[in-house]
Amino acid sequence: MTLDVRVLGDEHAADVFALRMQAFRVPPASLDAWRAQVDLSNFLGAFDGSRLVGVTAALPLGQHFGGRAVPMGGVATVAVAAEDRGRGVAGRLLGAAIGMMHDRGDALSALHPATTRLYRAHGWELAGERPVWRVPTAALRDLPGPGPGSGSEPEPVVLRAGSAADRDRIRACYERVAPDHDGWLARPAGWWDALASTDGHRYLSLARAEGGYGGEVMGYVRYRQVGKRPDWGYRLRVDELVAATPGAERALWRLIGSYASQAERVTVAGCRPDRLLLALPEQVVRAGRSSHWMARPIDAAAAVAARGYRPVVNARVELHVHDPHAPWNDGDWILEVAGGEGRLRRGGYGSVRLGAGALACLYTGWTSAANLVAAGLVHAPVDAVAGLDAVFAGSRPAMLDHF
Ligand SMILES: CC(C)(COP(=O)(O)OP(=O)(O)OC[C@H]1O[C@@H](n2cnc3c(N)ncnc32)[C@H](O)[C@@H]1OP(=O)(O)O)[C@@H](O)C(=O)NCCC(=O)NCCS
Repeated sequence: MTLDVRVLGDEHAADVFALRMQAFRVPPASLDAWRAQVDLSNFLGAFDGSRLVGVTAALPLGQHFGGRAVPMGGVATVAVAAEDRGRGVAGRLLGAAIGMMHDRGDALSALHPATTRLYRAHGWELAGERPVWRVPTAALRDLPGPGPGSGSEPEPVVLRAGSAADRDRIRACYERVAPDHDGWLARPAGWWDALASTDGHRYLSLARAEGGYGGEVMGYVRYRQVGKRPDWGYRLRVDELVAATPGAERALWRLIGSYASQAERVTVAGCRPDRLLLALPEQVVRAGRSSHWMARPIDAAAAVAARGYRPVVNARVELHVHDPHAPWNDGDWILEVAGGEGRLRRGGYGSVRLGAGALACLYTGWTSAANLVAAGLVHAPVDAVAGLDAVFAGSRPAMLDHF
C-alpha cells in the first residue's frame, strides 16, 4: 500500500464522518451538526489512491502552565478504516501531524488516548489527569460556608439560571480562572456556543456577586441529568464548575446539592476535588473512572519559553533530548530558569538524558524527575534531578475538556 498523507478540505467531510462512525460509533444523525462546526483544514488524511483510509485532527488550542497559555495542538479523531489497521497508517498520520503542528507554531501537543502505546511510540507520554469522582448529593446540600478562622467572610452571592445568551459571561469567568490551573485549556472562541447550550437535560447556573463586583459572573456550573434509575430519580453529572471566589464555589455546589431528593450521587469530571474535600466535614468523595492525557513537545524550545515558572526558582540544567520524530528537538540543550522565565538554548554536555515523552511529563509537572529516574525514563545525576524538580514538579495538571 502506497500512502499519501495530506491536509483535508470540505470535500472530504462525508468520508471523514464515515471513518468516525466506524471508529467511534458517533450517531449518523450528528452529521449535519458536526459538519457545521468542523474545520477540516485542521485534519490530515491518509489516502491509498483516491480512498481515504485514515484520518487525524490536530486542533489549534492552548494549554495553561505556570499561569500562561502555551500554543498546543490537540490531536483528536485518530481513526483508520478497519481493513487497513495494523499497517502503520496511524503512525504515518501522527508523524505528519507533528510536522503540521510545528509549521503552525504549536509548542506542545496533547491528546486523550484510547490506547497508550501507539502515541508513546511517537513521543507522547502520560502527562496529566482528567479526574472523575463521585460525591453524595446530600453532602453538597449541607456544605458549610467558610468557617470561623477561615479569614474571609463569604461574599453575598446570587444564583440565577443561565442560558445560551450568557455565553460571553461564562467565557469571561472561565478565562479569568483558567490560568490558575495547570493543564486547563485556552479554549477556542468557537467552542462557547456548545458550552453555553442548555438543550435537553443540560443546565447552566450562574453565581453573581452582589455589591463590590458590579454583578459580574463569579462562577458557573454546567450540569446534566443522565439516565433514569430503575426505582426513582436520576443521576447527575457536573461537566464543569468554575468559580473565581470561595463563596461562589460553595453556592454552586449547594445548588447541585439541592437535587438530593432525586439524585443520590453526583459524578464530576475534569476538575480536581481538592477544594471540595477541604470544605466537606467528612471524606465522602470517591474516585470514579479517571483517565490520563498524554503530551509531547512539538517545539521544545518554544514550549519552555512559553510557560510560566515560580519566580523563586533559579536553575540551570543540561539536557540531552532524544526525539527521532521531531529532529529539531533532538540533541544537547541548556535549560535555564530565572525570574519566572525559562529558556532552552543549544549547548552543554547533556548530563540529563531523556526522550521527548519524559520531557513532556516533566514540563506539565505531572510527575517528578525523581519518579522518572526511578521509572527508568530519565538518566540524571542527583543535583540535576533536584534542579528539574525545582523547575517543574508539583502542579498536578488536570484537564476539564475531552476533545
Ligand atoms: C488505534 C488505530 C487508530 C490504530 O491505527 P493503525 O493504523 O492500525 O495503527 P498502526 O498500524 O500505525 O500501529 C502503530 C502502533 O500502535 C499499536 N496499535 C495500533 N492499534 C492499536 C490498538 N487498537 N491497541 C493497542 N495498540 C495498537 C500497534 O501495535 C503499533 O505498534 P507496533 O508498530 O509496535 O506494532 C486504529 O486501530 C483505529 O482506528 N481504532 C479505532 C479508533 C480508535 O480507537 N482511535 C484511537 C483514538 S485515541
